[in-house]
Amino acid sequence: MAVPLRVLFISDSGAESVSAELERGGYEPLFEAISSAGELIDALASSWDVAISDFSISGFGAIEALRLIQERGVDLPLIAVTGPIKDGEVLSVLAAGAADHLTRRNLMRLNAAVERELRAARLRRERNRLEEQFRQAQKMEAVGRLAGGVAHDFNNLLTVITGYSDLLLAGRDLKESQRSALQEIRRSAERGGALTNQLLAFSRRQPLQTRLVHLNELVLQIEKLLRRLIGEDIELITVPAADRDAVVADPGRLEQVIMNLAVNARDAMPDGGKLTIETGIEQMDGALQAQQLGVKPGSFVTISVSDTGTGMDPETQSHLFEPFFTTKTAARGTGLGLATAYGIIRQSGGAIGFSSRLGRGTTACIYLPLAEDRAETVPAAIASEERLTGAETILLVEDETRVRKLIADVLSARGYRVLEATRGAEALRLCRIRKESIDLAVVDVVMPEMSGPDLIRQILPLKPNMRVLYISGYTEEAMVYHGIEQSGAAFLQKPFLPDMLARKVREVLDSRSNAAPKP
Ligand SMILES: Nc1ncnc2c1ncn2[C@@H]1O[C@H](COP(=O)(O)OP(=O)(O)O)[C@@H](O)[C@H]1O
Ligand SMILES: [Mg+2]
Repeated sequence: MAVPLRVLFISDSGAESVSAELERGGYEPLFEAISSAGELIDALASSWDVAISDFSISGFGAIEALRLIQERGVDLPLIAVTGPIKDGEVLSVLAAGAADHLTRRNLMRLNAAVERELRAARLRRERNRLEEQFRQAQKMEAVGRLAGGVAHDFNNLLTVITGYSDLLLAGRDLKESQRSALQEIRRSAERGGALTNQLLAFSRRQPLQTRLVHLNELVLQIEKLLRRLIGEDIELITVPAADRDAVVADPGRLEQVIMNLAVNARDAMPDGGKLTIETGIEQMDGALQAQQLGVKPGSFVTISVSDTGTGMDPETQSHLFEPFFTTKTAARGTGLGLATAYGIIRQSGGAIGFSSRLGRGTTACIYLPLAEDRAETVPAAIASEERLTGAETILLVEDETRVRKLIADVLSARGYRVLEATRGAEALRLCRIRKESIDLAVVDVVMPEMSGPDLIRQILPLKPNMRVLYISGYTEEAMVYHGIEQSGAAFLQKPFLPDMLARKVREVLDSRSNAAPKP
């Protein structure tokens, strides 16, 4: 089958013989003939496979053409095909950047030259694409670290603010004005917490509560909610088409991702339109697509969210996932929606991609690795009603002083005996001296010198009946995180409210499994 070849022909003679030669070589040449600088500049707006140029045509020629192509940064190989010209002229054309020189009399080498140049251009494009992908990944990584670091410190501060606000609010002798001022402080801290949590999600420093999720079900479940969200001018269509739809994910967060995509779709259709949410299966065995998306080859369940809205220009598309990138007014957009989605999906071993055309609409597609269907359900962790007090002994290990004090205050106020330690070594010493039993250790995951899990490993032989509750604003190393997750140990995410802490502590103390979870 003939291969279409888009040829920009800068010459006023010889088109027939060049074309015939290319056809002999198995090409189907599509010629556009031009003969001036102005025409060339116009033509460079379209894309071409190769330029074939004469040495000189009435004040214009190969050397001038090469200069214009290079000035515009267009990647277009130029082969000079000329009448008989002097050796010096051949050299000057090659020196200007021509890929090759042939004479019209002897076109034998033409097809070989074209083939070579096409191959080289393909390689250049591929390399550029990889470089661009790498730069993009590096940028996201750097922004992620920055955002994650800031968010982590903020979360500690917000934990203290919400925590002490709650302690004060629980007091009886508050004036009404004091109470409402405190509530305002608490509400603001909560909003701050929601914001930092989005940043943590983007930087993938937020532990996911994963389980087996069926995406068809998930989509149908949130359909009602979506309908309310998008308003009446937009038609919502859900197509649960995937015949296998199980993935391992955090359903709450996944829902958040789909909502973010749907809200974006809604915002892109101010005059109404159609929003389609569809699930499917995509086989990515070929390395290329998987590599482009940055995932391991395999089977993927997809959810695509398509709109018939404004679409995006390439510039917007290149910044989509950056935190705080938004084209909306401050009242409407935070620029965190897609950053959050990106972090959550990447952390789940998946990918998210966009295709969009200005004026036509946008499709966002989420890819999540297909989980082989194990009938695995997670018991609902419902706290033992509201009995949130106790008399047990709790070892509290937390390096952040204010957070430690807050937790100690909350637990003591509820009747527990609290032994405080700022770090691992101190906690170990406490455990060796104290002969009485310790019922529960509340331990920060990430601490200097010794991580929470390491510490627990050393304490458990001393206090075999102790239960463990990990707390953290984020989990630094994936290893630590996985270790904890696999052990099934209890976990509480900062910032938390005193009630959440008390409930979780009670829940862990009351849990049936008698042995402490292996860290
Ligand atoms: N479906 C879409 N159609 C058109 N533009 C979109 C769409 N989704 C995202 N965008 C663009 O990407 C930007 C970033 O999206 P996002 O991270 O969700 O932040 P926000 O919605 O707060 O602006 C949007 O401001 C918009 O310009
Ligand atoms: Mg958004």
